[in-house]
Amino acid sequence: MSLLHLNSLHLTQFKNYDSQTFEFSERIVGFCGPNGAGKTNLLDAIYYLCLTRSYFGKSDPGNISFGKNGFRIEGRFSRQGQPFAAVCILRETGKKEMQLNGEVYAKFSQHVGKFPVVVVAPDDVSLVAGGSEERRKLLDTIISQLDPEYLQQLIQYTKVLQQRNSLLKQFSESGRMDQALLSVLDDQLNAPGNFIFIQRKNFLQTYLPEVVKMYKMIAGVEEGLNLQYQSQLHDHSFSELLARNRDRDFYAQRTTGGIHRDELDIRLGDQPLRQIASQGQRKSLLFALKLAEFNVLRQHKGFEPILLLDDVFEKLDENRMHNLLYWACIDNRGQVFLTDTHCSRLNAALEKLNTGFQVVSLA
Ligand SMILES: Nc1ncnc2c1ncn2[C@@H]1O[C@H](COP(=O)(O)OP(=O)(O)O)[C@@H](O)[C@H]1O
Ligand SMILES: [Mg+2]
Repeated sequence: MSLLHLNSLHLTQFKNYDSQTFEFSERIVGFCGPNGAGKTNLLDAIYYLCLTRSYFGKSDPGNISFGKNGFRIEGRFSRQGQPFAAVCILRETGKKEMQLNGEVYAKFSQHVGKFPVVVVAPDDVSLVAGGSEERRKLLDTIISQLDPEYLQQLIQYTKVLQQRNSLLKQFSESGRMDQALLSVLDDQLNAPGNFIFIQRKNFLQTYLPEVVKMYKMIAGVEEGLNLQYQSQLHDHSFSELLARNRDRDFYAQRTTGGIHRDELDIRLGDQPLRQIASQGQRKSLLFALKLAEFNVLRQHKGFEPILLLDDVFEKLDENRMHNLLYWACIDNRGQVFLTDTHCSRLNAALEKLNTGFQVVSLA
């Protein structure tokens, strides 16, 4: 059995599930069923239990079954031989609560990282093709699972940044800037900003070579893949940056410099990948980013994260699919949940692996 294993999942008023229990006796679990059957919803429920929020960006209330009030997700895990009951509740009042073994967390960030998880889903191509925010979110999700302090600092940074931006807006409306007040917020932004910058920089030193390695494994060739962490904080201290940008910020009515502008620059050769890459190259890179995330988390935790593979059969040709499945299910000993619209295709693919698996068919 894997060192981290989800044994059961109980859903109440979560999306299309009114009250339902699933038991997972096997390490490899497939969900099959037609479009709209609720396969992705199950993966999202597992994601909630691990990271206290939806993967698919929906607000918490958006996940309550239509016409109901509140939801509850309960999962029973075993981790390194110990049992854990994790519960995520959205109360009727709209308040969200996370519990572990009956104890309510004071902060969600205390839970994040205890049950590491990695998702690969079709929409993730926006990671490669979309704006820089997507890539910052990826980094933040990984580093938050490595270090709870990171998420705390990020929440703090975002809060002060919002305050600073609305202050800049007020200044612009009134036509005058209160330098002293701005300096107070600059000071509050400085510590979390620097912390996040240093954490990202350190993390990327291990992560980026891993991405290149996994890209080579998937694509078969290296193709001159080059990833670089871009941040204004490489060249200026954060406090210097804020001071220098003050006039510009006043006119722009927002904070124009900081770690919220960081980018993960991705190139093939010297061309930006999102401009030139073929479909196949984008997919390979998407998988490389996610598998590298898996590897780094495993290394750090000493056990495999839970792996959620959504509709990957639609995305890859049979050969690549077999390589991916072999890597995910045989080379790695962690628990894997995967979905497919065709039960027969899913069964056939898993049978080929010659390892224990179960398939849950959703009507
Ligand atoms: N808040 C909700 N309440 C009830 N049903 C929902 C809610 N959100 C989504 N659904 C339903 O979930 C289904 C989609 O589930 P999903 O897991 O994405 O399916 P798939 O099996 O294709 O991955 C749709 O039928 C949709 O109506
Ligand atoms: Mg789906």
